[in-house]
Amino acid sequence: MSAVPDSAGIEVRRLAGAALNARLDGLAAVLEDCVSGGASVSYMAPFSHAQAREAFAGMAAEVEQGRRLLLAALDDGAVVGTVQVILASPPNQPHRGEIAKLLVHRRARRRGLAALLMEHAEAEARAEGKSLLVLDTVTGDPAERLYARLGWTRVGVIPNYALYPDGRFCDTTVFWKAI
Ligand SMILES: CC(C)(COP(=O)(O)OP(=O)(O)OC[C@H]1O[C@@H](n2cnc3c(N)ncnc32)[C@H](O)[C@@H]1OP(=O)(O)O)[C@@H](O)C(=O)NCCC(=O)NCCS
Repeated sequence: MSAVPDSAGIEVRRLAGAALNARLDGLAAVLEDCVSGGASVSYMAPFSHAQAREAFAGMAAEVEQGRRLLLAALDDGAVVGTVQVILASPPNQPHRGEIAKLLVHRRARRRGLAALLMEHAEAEARAEGKSLLVLDTVTGDPAERLYARLGWTRVGVIPNYALYPDGRFCDTTVFWKAI
C-alpha cells in the first residue's frame, strides 16, 4: 500500500453562480500559491490574494456568460485544485475548447488531482459539444509531462512565449486532443 495519499476522497465539482462566488477565496488561494511557487500562469510576482480573487471574479463573470466552465477539486470541503475550459470560440470553431488555469495547491500535488481534474474537464467539454481541445503550457514543467501522459499531442514549442512570475522568459509547448 502506498504511503502517499492519492486522489481518493477528492470531489470534483463544476461551479457556477452562488456556489462559485462562495468559493472565490478558496480558488484565489490556490492561484496565489501557484504563483508564489513560481508557476507561469499569466501573473507576475508579487501577487496578492486580492489580485488572485479579482482574477477569479473576472473568470466567474465569464462562467455566468457561458463563455467558460470551471471545476474545483475539493478535499474535505476545501478547494485544493481547479481547471477551466474556455467554451467561447469563433463561429467557425464551435467544436473547439481550450483548457486553462489547471492549478493544484502545492500541498496537494503528486496525488493525481491534476489528472482527475483533466478527466472531468474533458467529460464536461464533451457534454458541451466540444470534440477538440487545445492548450499551452510551460515547456519542461511538470504539466508538460502530465498532458503527454494523458494522451495529448504535442504540436511544438514557441520560444520565450511568456514570463515566469520573477520575470524570466519561458518557452511554451502547444498541445491538442480530440475528445
Ligand atoms: C501541473 C500541476 C497542475 C500538476 O498537478 P498534480 O496534481 O501534482 O498532478 P498529478 O498528481 O496528476 O501528477 C503529477 C505527478 O505526480 C505523480 N503522481 C500522481 N499520483 C501519485 C501518487 N498517488 N503517488 C505518487 N506520485 C503520484 C504523477 O505520476 C506525476 O508524476 P511526474 O510529474 O513525474 O510525471 C501542478 O504541478 C501545478 O498546479 N503547477 C503549477 C501551475 C501549472 O503549471 N499549471 C499548468 C498550467 S498549463
